[in-house]
Amino acid sequence: MQTLTSVKALRSAISAEKQAGKRIAFVPTMGNLHSGHISLIKRATELGDCVVASIFVNPLQFGANEDLDNYPRTLQEDMDKLLGAGTDYLFTPSAKEIYPQGMALQTQVSVPDITDTLCGASRPGHFVGVATVVSKLFNIVQPDTALFGEKDFQQLAVIRKMVRDLCFDIEVVGVATARNEDGLALSSRNGYLNDEQRSLAPQLHATLQRCQQDIIAGCHDYANLVRRCSEDLQGHGFNVDYFAICDGTTLRDITSQSPEIVILVAASLGNTRLIDNVTLTLNPAGN
Ligand code: PAF
Repeated sequence: MQTLTSVKALRSAISAEKQAGKRIAFVPTMGNLHSGHISLIKRATELGDCVVASIFVNPLQFGANEDLDNYPRTLQEDMDKLLGAGTDYLFTPSAKEIYPQGMALQTQVSVPDITDTLCGASRPGHFVGVATVVSKLFNIVQPDTALFGEKDFQQLAVIRKMVRDLCFDIEVVGVATARNEDGLALSSRNGYLNDEQRSLAPQLHATLQRCQQDIIAGCHDYANLVRRCSEDLQGHGFNVDYFAICDGTTLRDITSQSPEIVILVAASLGNTRLIDNVTLTLNPAGN
């Protein structure tokens, strides 16, 4: 695995791979890699002949009061994991390399509509930061395929829309959420949880699953389900940012035309904000 820090060096390495006829699969990350990230890399090795990963803790997607400074940085361990999983190139640019004129002068990519709800509503500017850095990384790497985790369901939807709207010639692949045995979705932020919070955290997925089962069993009083699930989570000590049952494509209210439903949650234990989701498909009868 070659680790490169400059746009120029990465471009020249990838261009040689492309000239040799290789298909490029790209996994952008912010590091502190866990087995969820490694499953993205493994899938990338199946979809491409040359796997490129990036580690860049993107300051543009963090709000002023968020965890940018404390975000876990574990480069050496990450490099070992990436190498073991079959990565060919690792791109670890500095903020100066990505934002040479500073963030204030950076042209920004704003994806409308789908970003003003859920995490977009709670984290103003977050998805502009994500869309901007991902479009820059796409232009630098020029991959054939890019892989993202389904845990960040809204992020994946935003990136899919951006790719469509800006005509990026890139196949976006979502990879199923990796979970601990108790159901907790793997996340770099799980490391912030103390023992008590860690023991409560699996309630997030358990509540999503109960809600999913209730809908499958025929309960379509979504407002009531949302209220009940939010109260359940509060009862377990979560501070609920949102619990929502949405159309899986628009992330808006479910309509009679919604074939796929997504149930999404963002909730904090102490200062640690966790997100998760489950999807389900309605049959034509609507149940
Ligand atoms: O999901 C992440 O780790 C980040 O949001 C991403 C896609 C690497 C952009 O910084």
